Amino acid sequence: MRIVVIGAGGTIGKAVVAELAPRHEVIQVGKTRGDYQVDIADLDSIRALFEKTGKVDAIVSTAGNVHFGPLSEMTPELFNIGLKDKLMGQVNLVLAGQQYINDAGSITLTSGILSEDPIRYGSSASMVNGALESFVRAAAIELPRGLRINAVSPTVIEESMESFGPYFRGFEAIPARRAALAYSRSIEGAQTGRIYKVW
Ligand SMILES: NC(=O)c1ccc[n+]([C@@H]2O[C@H](COP(=O)([O-])OP(=O)(O)OC[C@H]3O[C@@H](n4cnc5c(N)ncnc54)[C@H](OP(=O)(O)O)[C@@H]3O)[C@@H](O)[C@H]2O)c1
Repeated sequence: MRIVVIGAGGTIGKAVVAELAPRHEVIQVGKTRGDYQVDIADLDSIRALFEKTGKVDAIVSTAGNVHFGPLSEMTPELFNIGLKDKLMGQVNLVLAGQQYINDAGSITLTSGILSEDPIRYGSSASMVNGALESFVRAAAIELPRGLRINAVSPTVIEESMESFGPYFRGFEAIPARRAALAYSRSIEGAQTGRIYKVW
């Protein structure tokens, strides 16, 4: 398959590329690194990306920023970071990307454990992850041409514990390569509308 991975240079993205590259043609995309660059918060930038890549069999997103901070200090602008980048950025990928996916292809987005298991300072991440998962279930019943869509919801990643560890006390971290298997299941399997929890 021809697979575009957006966020390919990141902690999870690198493991997804390592999982898929032995079997597939993987196009690596980032905001500043990779074969191509895109800003998923900008629909025109996404359209320009797919004009360059041409048609693909799978779109994977391991990208998306949210602001972490105490609820008492959150502002609409700080919530807007996650809404614009992680939520609408990944929704934009579906809106613009569906025209560039071959029949029976797939889209795999990334949410995260905080949709169900909140932590201090994670209100924006919980909100965005929950919305993404609801969007994936809804989009799955409308996508045409046998296109499928799933989300991977990882718990905290071992390789990120140096920075995230203090916020995730008591959580069992998983290696990024374990999360990567769920992306493979989404792309190379047959399911749709699923949220793969890797906890
Ligand atoms: N790490 C964890 O423990 C963990 C756990 C659960 C869920 N998640 C979620 O998984 C996703 C990836 O996390 P990560 O830790 O792998 O992140 P990361 O290491 O910071 O990597 C993020 C990747 O996304 C790209 N990117 C960032 N903003 C972008 C934008 N607006 N448009 C296009 N590409 C963009 C970056 O590109 P460049 O490098 O080219 O700039 C980079 O390749 C995030 O949504 C995160 O919330 C992470």
